Amino acid sequence: MKIEHIDSSIIERKKLVCPWQLAPIIDNRLRPLVHNPQKIFAPYVETGMTVLDVGCGAGFTSLGLAKLVGEEGLVIAADLQPKMLSIVKERAVRAGLSNRIRIHLCSPERIGLQEEVDFAVAFFMVHEVPDVRTFLEEIYELLKNGGQFFVTEPIIHVGLRAFRQLMREARDVGFEITGRPSVRFGRTVLLVKLE
Ligand SMILES: C[S@@+](CC[C@H](N)C(=O)[O-])C[C@H]1O[C@@H](n2cnc3c(N)ncnc32)[C@H](O)[C@@H]1O
Repeated sequence: MKIEHIDSSIIERKKLVCPWQLAPIIDNRLRPLVHNPQKIFAPYVETGMTVLDVGCGAGFTSLGLAKLVGEEGLVIAADLQPKMLSIVKERAVRAGLSNRIRIHLCSPERIGLQEEVDFAVAFFMVHEVPDVRTFLEEIYELLKNGGQFFVTEPIIHVGLRAFRQLMREARDVGFEITGRPSVRFGRTVLLVKLE
């Protein structure tokens, strides 16, 4: 079948979501040697901030972010898989960080939060989102003016062309690109909302 004969909604549905059963593989013991969330996000996150970790999975980045926001801050760990969120909850309790981490169940189409956030993170998840434009618009709405959005995508799943397209869409939505931080095995961009 030629590509133009394929209904684009079918292509969209092929965007698979990383299943919760893979959580131990994603958050394996060696990952902290490759990704250190506290080090990665320290330049952007201050104590007392409200941070959204969208597509948080089993909470690897949420836990690191919770250490950065401190006692007065909040991390909203958001995912569409309830099982991922229950793993985050258990880990937060074990780490003594449950008072700083709130879990939030998204639908596949909408994050569905009401409050504003200072900083947002999408770590290795945007390629799983069915409608990237709507997703970026929603993040833009959720961010306070001057708020930053840190997007990193895995190089094994997201090629340079696709990542450039993501950055174009982000600009179309109103974001400005302020940096290209380095994340191992990732393609990364730092976006800012300036109204
Ligand atoms: C590859 S995992 C990455 C998890 C985590 N960010 C990490 O780096 O360990 C992608 C996660 O994004 C979640 N996800 C995918 N699409 C989503 C959506 N539209 N809204 C919220 N979460 C989503 C999946 O359920 C999965 O937990």
